[in-house]
Amino acid sequence: MNIGYGRAEMAEAIADQIKQLSYGSTFWDKTTIPAAQLADKLAQLAPAQLNHVVFAQGGSTGVDTAIRLAHYYFQRLGQHSKKKIIAFGDAYHGGTLLASTLTGYEHNRTAFHVIDDLVDHIPTPNAYRRADGLSDLDFREACVAELEHKIVELGPENVACCIMEPILGTARLRGTTARLPPAGGPGMRPVRRALHRG
Ligand SMILES: Cc1ncc(COP(=O)(O)O)c(C=O)c1O
Repeated sequence: MNIGYGRAEMAEAIADQIKQLSYGSTFWDKTTIPAAQLADKLAQLAPAQLNHVVFAQGGSTGVDTAIRLAHYYFQRLGQHSKKKIIAFGDAYHGGTLLASTLTGYEHNRTAFHVIDDLVDHIPTPNAYRRADGLSDLDFREACVAELEHKIVELGPENVACCIMEPILGTARLRGTTARLPPAGGPGMRPVRRALHRG
């Protein structure tokens, strides 16, 4: 969808690859030449330290993989209690069991079973919720504070990561998400500080 519909050059690229490779796996230390080339290109485009790429079959498995990597990281450090994931209440993260647990909206949580003990939701930074007279900046700071408070409430020693969609789309089609500050920037310092206390 993101690349448009019925693009002949995409169809040809896919057909070319299928003709060359009937089966491939990117598990463990295996890869294929086009996957390695794409990983190289993505590493060049991504900010400095982001030089490792894991490919998934789609958005949901990408989300699951990212969370599993965060869990793996803390397991390797011996910080076994760092499991909790914080997500936005209105977010949509996909259809696998973990991704649908991260997805906050009601129907998902009542019509199916979810892995509740792993995920906590916080209010979505939705500009509709902004109180009259609150500036964009103040609203953004209030949203960052909600995240910080949730980390403190859960105990940073129990929090593995937070997952955020930069722009909310699938779940509510509101398109009014307040842009939170970049994870590494000064605006997110309170959140980083809260996390590092764990
Ligand atoms: C933000 C976000 N994450 C994950 C997904 C799930 O992707 P997929 O349907 O490819 O599994 C979607 C799908 O719309 C999405 O919008």
